[in-house]
Amino acid sequence: MQKIHHITSAQNIASRELLEKLFQTAETLQNKQARNDSLQGKILACLLYEPSTRTRFSFEAAMLRLGGQVLSSEDAGRYSSAKKGETLEDAIQIINGYADCIMLRHPEKGAAQRAAEVSDVPLINGGDGPGEHPTQALLDVYTLYKELGKIDGLNIAIVGDLKHGRTVHSLLMLLDVYKDMRLRLVSPKQLTLPAEYKQNLQNSIEETTNMQDMLSTADVVYMTRIQKERFEAKEEYENLKDSYIFGKEELALLKKNAVIMHPLPRVDEISKEVDKDPRSAYFRQAHNGLYVRMALLQHLLE
Ligand code: CP
Repeated sequence: MQKIHHITSAQNIASRELLEKLFQTAETLQNKQARNDSLQGKILACLLYEPSTRTRFSFEAAMLRLGGQVLSSEDAGRYSSAKKGETLEDAIQIINGYADCIMLRHPEKGAAQRAAEVSDVPLINGGDGPGEHPTQALLDVYTLYKELGKIDGLNIAIVGDLKHGRTVHSLLMLLDVYKDMRLRLVSPKQLTLPAEYKQNLQNSIEETTNMQDMLSTADVVYMTRIQKERFEAKEEYENLKDSYIFGKEELALLKKNAVIMHPLPRVDEISKEVDKDPRSAYFRQAHNGLYVRMALLQHLLE
C-alpha cells in the first residue's frame, strides 16, 4: 500500500488499491453511522483563506466523529496574522506545532504545494484556487461507486467551467485509475480544460460545446458552476454564466439509471425542479464527503 503524507494533488491518491481501501472504510462507517475514538488526542487545523461550507464542515465533523478535535480559522486572510503580512509558509510552520494535520483552502493555485513543502504534519489541499480539490474528487468517485456499483467503463459528461473548475481537474486524475472510461467534456470555448490537465490522461476524452447531445448516452452527468470569482472581467462572466442549465427538458433525455452529480454549491446550472428526481445524487454526494473524509483522516493519522 502506497504511503501518503501530504495530499496536494489527486495524483497523491491515484492508486486503485488505496481508493478501494478508503471506499471500504468509508462504506463501513456510513452503514453503521459510526463514531469512534480512533483519533482521540489528535487535532485537525482547518485554515481557510476562501469560503467553504461542505469541505470545512465535513472535515470538522469527520474529525469530531473520530474522537479528535478541531482548530479552525475561517477567512484566514482577515482573521489570522496573514492580515499583518505573515506568509503562508510561516503560518504553516507555526500551526505544525499545534496540530497533527492541516486542511488548507486558499485562493492561489499552488498554495497547497507551497504549504506542504514546509509542513511536517500531513497537509490536505481543500481547494487551491483554480488548481485542484483532491478530496472532492475522492468523494465524487466514491459517489459513483455507491450510486452505480462500478466505475470502469462509465460514460461521463462533465459540464461547465472546466478551465477554473478545480474539482474537475482532480476528478479527471482519479478517474484515470479506472479503465475504458468515456469522458466527454462540455464547456464554452472560453472555458475548456487547460492542456496541463489533459496531457497525461490514459482514458480518451472528447471535447464539445453541446450538452444536449451528450445526455441520452451518459451514465453520469457531472455539472459544475461557472466560477464567478475566477473571472477578471465581470462582463465575460455575465456572458457565460448561463451557458448550461440542466432542467426538466434535460432530465427527460437522460437514461433511467443515469446519475446527476455536482460538487456544489450550485447557482442556476441545475434547476430546483430536478432535485426531487431520484437520479439527482448531488445532495447524497455532499453527504458522502463526511464518510470519505473520516476514512482519509483515519488513514493519515492512525
Ligand atoms: N464542493 C465544495 O468544495 O464545496 P465548499 O466550497 O462549500 O467547500
